[in-house]
Amino acid sequence: MAENLLSIRRLGGLDVSALGFGAMVLSPGVYGEIDDERGERAMLAALDAGATFVDTSDGHGQDGHNERLVGRALRGRRDEVVIATKFGFRLPEGVEAHPFPVGFALGELAVNADPKHVRGYAEASLRELGTDRIDLYYPHFPDPQVPLADTVGAVADLVSAGLVRHLGLSNVTAGQLRAAHAVHPVTAVQTEWSMWRPVDPELLAAARELGVGLVAWSPLGAGFLTGTVGEVKEGDFRRQMPRFDAANQQMNKDRFAPVRAVAEELSITPAQLALAWLLHQDEHVVPIPGSRTPAHVQENLAAARVELPDGVRERLDVILAQTRVEGGTLL
Ligand SMILES: NC(=O)c1ccc[n+]([C@@H]2O[C@H](COP(=O)([O-])OP(=O)(O)OC[C@H]3O[C@@H](n4cnc5c(N)ncnc54)[C@H](OP(=O)(O)O)[C@@H]3O)[C@@H](O)[C@H]2O)c1
Repeated sequence: MAENLLSIRRLGGLDVSALGFGAMVLSPGVYGEIDDERGERAMLAALDAGATFVDTSDGHGQDGHNERLVGRALRGRRDEVVIATKFGFRLPEGVEAHPFPVGFALGELAVNADPKHVRGYAEASLRELGTDRIDLYYPHFPDPQVPLADTVGAVADLVSAGLVRHLGLSNVTAGQLRAAHAVHPVTAVQTEWSMWRPVDPELLAAARELGVGLVAWSPLGAGFLTGTVGEVKEGDFRRQMPRFDAANQQMNKDRFAPVRAVAEELSITPAQLALAWLLHQDEHVVPIPGSRTPAHVQENLAAARVELPDGVRERLDVILAQTRVEGGTLL
């Protein structure tokens, strides 16, 4: 059982710990060396430190690796957590790839969120996760070749069938959120949001108006905001990201020095400041930091208890508004 309690936040009708755990980094080929034993230890450290919200995807890791790892780690502790997973990003043989344009070296991703495949995706994820229900289920990306309402309708059918509890959306616009919510209530919208990636104000406004929770992905800027990322080695996915190109990364690191100075002044780490800053942006935002390292996991989850005085938040707003980030975004 969890030794520490974290405060609870409400995503639509779903209660989760104020900070979740993003499991993507526990698969090889994401951000550095990892093996399953180490991965399971990191995830269990998150549960022990009070996290009750775990985020994965059928597309993280090779052939369902990430979901399988999450399922194995949660054996015997399934009922302690809300499991969120995403679909349409692991395409079985014979499923047509629909290109989804992205702003990094790959240029595009292959997705397919056609309703005819959605039940099959869910059954595969349930098998990998070793569970009988997915608590929060998102199409990983809106499929440019399929009306989002049709994808959402297929998830609504899974809710009726008892395989899924809540619908989420990931990487959508405000317009897409509104259209989907009209088909079936959306519990949470997942979007990249951090100190170096402002949230789309229209998406934030729509989520607030509709009572939809916000899940902030890459809340530590894929590690950048911790101030500890050095040379990004071969086999690390950040090699694909323009912001981690060696020259850009150095420039960005220099420009974020004033942010790190605020953390030092408060006697917290830059990672804790980045997470506490997000938690103070909205009462229904839940960041999902990832880490392979139990000490980092504990440090991150402790950020749920950091109070940022108004004056500090105002100073950070000024600093961040003046900080130009070198290198494009992922999406
Ligand atoms: N919907 C989408 O399209 C989408 C896209 C990307 C991600 N996501 C979700 O968002 C989750 C988090 O994304 P992410 O992994 O990119 O995010 P992140 O939390 O921004 O960054 C993770 C990186 O930060 C490092 N780190 C974490 N805590 C640290 C600490 N206290 N000190 C030093 N370094 C630390 C980790 O290294 P160590 O392992 O060494 O600690 C890891 O390399 C993913 O697991 C995934 O579920 C969703």
